[in-house]
Amino acid sequence: MAPTMKMAKEYARFKNPFRPGAGHMPPHLAGRDKEIGEFQHLLKQDTVLKNLVLTGLRGLGKTVLLETFKPMAMSEGWLWAGTDLSESTSISEDNMATRLLTDLAVATSSIVYTSKEKTSAGFIRRREQVDVTLNYSTLRGIYDSIPGLVSDKLKGTLEIVWISLKDTRHEGIVFAYDEAQNLADHTSKDQFPLSLLLDLFQSLQRKECRFMLALTGLPTLFPKLVEARTFAERMFTIIFLGPLNEKETTEAIRKPIEQEGCPIKIVPKSIKTIWEFTRGYPYFVQYVCREVFDVWVQSSEIGKKPPPVPLDEITRKLDTDFFSGRWARATDRQRELLRVIAELPNCDGEFTVQEITEHPSNQEPDKSFSGSHVNQILSALSDAGLVYKNRHGKYSLAVPLLGHFVRRQKKQDDNPYLPFEG
Ligand SMILES: Nc1ncnc2c1ncn2[C@@H]1O[C@H](COP(=O)(O)OP(=O)(O)OP(=O)(O)O)[C@@H](O)[C@H]1O
Ligand SMILES: [Mg+2]
Repeated sequence: MAPTMKMAKEYARFKNPFRPGAGHMPPHLAGRDKEIGEFQHLLKQDTVLKNLVLTGLRGLGKTVLLETFKPMAMSEGWLWAGTDLSESTSISEDNMATRLLTDLAVATSSIVYTSKEKTSAGFIRRREQVDVTLNYSTLRGIYDSIPGLVSDKLKGTLEIVWISLKDTRHEGIVFAYDEAQNLADHTSKDQFPLSLLLDLFQSLQRKECRFMLALTGLPTLFPKLVEARTFAERMFTIIFLGPLNEKETTEAIRKPIEQEGCPIKIVPKSIKTIWEFTRGYPYFVQYVCREVFDVWVQSSEIGKKPPPVPLDEITRKLDTDFFSGRWARATDRQRELLRVIAELPNCDGEFTVQEITEHPSNQEPDKSFSGSHVNQILSALSDAGLVYKNRHGKYSLAVPLLGHFVRRQKKQDDNPYLPFEG
């Protein structure tokens, strides 16, 4: 970037466009063409045979992609219902029913279900026909009038909704749930809301009702679905979001500042630095660009040449803002294991328990971890959202670039007087 004094005033008008934050739409959504194509394909299904699971590590762009899918689905004639399930870990079957009816009502409240005769009060009594729409009280009324278990009531209600919907120009309804890894069955409480959801959609889809599930969540999501109902394996198309490639990362950096009124230009060398640092992880791209933009604005305001991308300072800030909260939640023993994992050459990919136990950094007498120890701690780390186990029993770190952070901690702990290194 090469700002001049004259340009400094323009910065004030041109706000920092970058958006590092959970669910914040980026100024330019880079890449994801393949994923958008796959979703479009799902919308085109005659009979809904496949539903969507959109998964990936923290900060990969699941929420913003789901948000991008919404207008796409609506322009194809679908209604869109759904919510964020962050708070719903202790959900019961009744809660699940209320959840679905509440979300559905928002989408269907203007659809006419039937009309009924109403006598108006007043001096002259008149009879008129009024429309009854599928709002929450209608849906709840239908639900309550159906006998049986929660699943019977939900199936009955949604079939009735579909009959009303068929007469409209709507294609169907997408039920979109973000943070769906929080869904769970609770055997001890005899509550199976996750299985209920899967049974419900499978049964409705078999009856040719055009309702589609779009679930978004961490990589634990899909194994959880399959564990609840084996047929889930066939019911979903899985989109696993990866980091952006170099070209896409370049676009994510460049496009937001190649805008009318933006006085900043970014040179290829700086783009390369940001690419190498962020490895295309979308949250980090937004984070670094936001910092860089501010730093360059400040230096230009005091008439200085822009400094190189301040990687050390950004790393330090990122460690505090993003990683340290997660690190603080880990126990001492869990941290020790994470230190061993961070030394594995494949720590950014998948690794096995055996690779951990056999690694030279796990050979310290009295301190080394046995296989069963490793299993135990990995399971606790998985509950804490720091690692996850895939369907083939291999593990991965659930937070992008966590290995780098852990190695930085080790350097700092080993010698607190060392100057900070990125
Ligand atoms: N394709 C993209 N191009 C540029 N920036 C992106 C892209 N996708 C996401 N981002 C940015 O990355 C950040 C994280 O996005 P988002 O919150 O959607 O991720 P997430 O996968 O839902 O994370 P979490 O698992 O924490 O919920 C946001 O700041 C967003 O603006
Ligand atoms: Mg999200």
